[in-house]
Amino acid sequence: MPKLLHIQSSPNIENSVSRSLSDQFVKRWAEHHHNVAVEVLDLAAEPLPHFGPAILQAAVTPPESMSDETRAAVALSDRLIRQLEDADILVIGSPMINFTICSQLKAWFDHVTIAGRTFEFSAPGVARGLLFGKKAFVIEARGGEYTDLPFSAFDFQEPLLKALLMFLGIFDASFIRAEGMRQREEDTDSIIRNAQDVVSRVAA
Ligand SMILES: Cc1cc2nc3c(=O)[nH]c(=O)nc-3n(C[C@H](O)[C@H](O)[C@H](O)COP(=O)(O)O)c2cc1C
Repeated sequence: MPKLLHIQSSPNIENSVSRSLSDQFVKRWAEHHHNVAVEVLDLAAEPLPHFGPAILQAAVTPPESMSDETRAAVALSDRLIRQLEDADILVIGSPMINFTICSQLKAWFDHVTIAGRTFEFSAPGVARGLLFGKKAFVIEARGGEYTDLPFSAFDFQEPLLKALLMFLGIFDASFIRAEGMRQREEDTDSIIRNAQDVVSRVAA
């Protein structure tokens, strides 16, 4: 049975655009693709620690000499990597915070972007992603509009997400944007409706 991993990251638990659109996406996907097993990872409800000193030690410490803290940090990273490896489809809800992804989602990428597990160096300076055959759908919410120049130059969310996913070997990634809700508040309803229509079509 195909597995869908739904990653929620918005710190706005109650009233988030990326949460509600990605919920809609997953619901619609499940209606149109039978026998899909959905798992939800909510990075704001259950925050991950920063990629800190304990996990950093893992790269330079043999297993038998690891501290309890490093062991626990490695176990967490392993669990997240296994969950990602098991998934066939990824649905990521991503709010833009200060022109980029939120720190909750960044922490997740830090924990799953591990040399020898999800990417490897195939030659000096040449990296290769090790996650194959996955499809990602990213639902972005941002208050401003970044589709066109000059504002697209300030978009460090979508290009970063593309780069991070590609680095892991996930080349098949589609992006759906709800943008401009803060810039054109009077158009918020129609912006959300348009995004809902796109979600509906893409997820079916
Ligand atoms: C702390 C904070 C920083 C934000 N920074 C930006 C930003 O740099 N650019 C932008 O277009 N919108 C920014 N926004 C607006 C959010 O992107 C917008 O509210 C979006 O809907 C957030 O996604 P969510 O509704 O899923 O939480 C910011 C919002 C907050 C709360």
